[in-house]
Amino acid sequence: MKVMILGIDGYLGWALALRLSKRHEVSGIDNMFTRKAVKEVGSDSGLPILSMGERIKAVKELGGADIRFYDGDITRYEVLHDAIIKERPDTIIHFAEERSAPYSMIDHKHAAYAMQNNIVSTINLIYAVREANPNAHVVKMGTMGEYGTPNFDVPESPYLTTTIGGKEDSITTPKFAGSWYHWSKVHDTNNLLFANRLWGLTVTNIMQGPVYGTRTADITDPRLFTRFDFDETWGTVVNRYCVEAVLGMPLSVYGKGGQTRGFLSLEDSVEALRLLVDNPPDSGAFRTVNQFRELFSVLQLATSVQNAAKSLGIDATIGSVKNPRVEKEEHYYNIERKVLPALGFDKLKRNMDGELKSMLTDLDAQKQHLERYRGAIMPRTMWR
Ligand SMILES: NC(=O)c1ccc[n+]([C@@H]2O[C@H](COP(=O)([O-])OP(=O)(O)OC[C@H]3O[C@@H](n4cnc5c(N)ncnc54)[C@H](O)[C@@H]3O)[C@@H](O)[C@H]2O)c1
Repeated sequence: MKVMILGIDGYLGWALALRLSKRHEVSGIDNMFTRKAVKEVGSDSGLPILSMGERIKAVKELGGADIRFYDGDITRYEVLHDAIIKERPDTIIHFAEERSAPYSMIDHKHAAYAMQNNIVSTINLIYAVREANPNAHVVKMGTMGEYGTPNFDVPESPYLTTTIGGKEDSITTPKFAGSWYHWSKVHDTNNLLFANRLWGLTVTNIMQGPVYGTRTADITDPRLFTRFDFDETWGTVVNRYCVEAVLGMPLSVYGKGGQTRGFLSLEDSVEALRLLVDNPPDSGAFRTVNQFRELFSVLQLATSVQNAAKSLGIDATIGSVKNPRVEKEEHYYNIERKVLPALGFDKLKRNMDGELKSMLTDLDAQKQHLERYRGAIMPRTMWR
């Protein structure tokens, strides 16, 4: 199979390229936006990463396959269209978006950037597939944050049936996103649903929870490291806690810490994506996938990181900071998950504690480098 990864230089993109290139022909596009935007907020990848050219060379030197790379911005339609014409991929995975909620909340310029970059890249993908490769399977990475934290069980379906004013109809599953970034993903979902209804675009739309981890089974050499963000703008919560533990900072739990989300490791994310790529939906179908392994509150996670650190001789304390976000700090949370278990995902049982120890060990080896960015960890971006 030929697979194209949009956003191949990113945390998930590079890790997935390593996994898929073992069995498929992989190409990818990136404009290095994340590398620049992380520097913009005074931070850097916590693990040293090579340039794209060096990464591809390292894969080959280590006996892997050739990965073809296109340096370009997919909000420029011709960049994406021409690469699709050249590659004719069977599957296109779209990661190439601004993916930080705090970044999108900095000010008008950053909110507008998230909207423009994310919505335009997705509409470009919709049209490029329709014009150049209408049978391709589009795998779009959305976020579980599109749902917010509703007081009902969230179905794994783009539509639900309800009765309004005594009349029954099917409506799009309500979304209660909590940042401009998350709303840009909701708008993407609506655009993909419309393209599916109009032209039968084949779509897997993934609602993924926050990912944590420094490695996958394919990252066997430091030259293959994928990026790892930990600062207040770009770091997801577990990744941030692990760096705080290594630097001797209190783990920064926002508010009461009852905010519950569905988490998964980098290895699980890559393996779930591999399963979805290898098992596409029927042609013309729209498949929604809720992608996570376990639910945790952010306070529970802090305790897990504290315990894992303790087993490695690191004494971590749990702190509490004023919540910079506008979100419920205690709430109901029940998200349906059927597609991935049906593909065998749950058989791959993994243990969060084991993953945390391996992360802490990798990060401890980078302590000097991480120390330089200590000032970028505590929250500065306020939702209001
Ligand atoms: N990491 C997570 O925990 C997580 C959780 C849920 C969903 N997601 C989603 O998964 C996707 C990948 O996330 P990630 O953590 O790998 O993010 P990332 O920022 O590390 O990777 C995204 C990549 O896309 C590139 N990119 C952005 N805009 C582009 C454009 N216009 N043209 C070309 N390349 C562009 C960036 O340079 C970057 O390399 C994102 O869409 C994100 O919203 C991530």
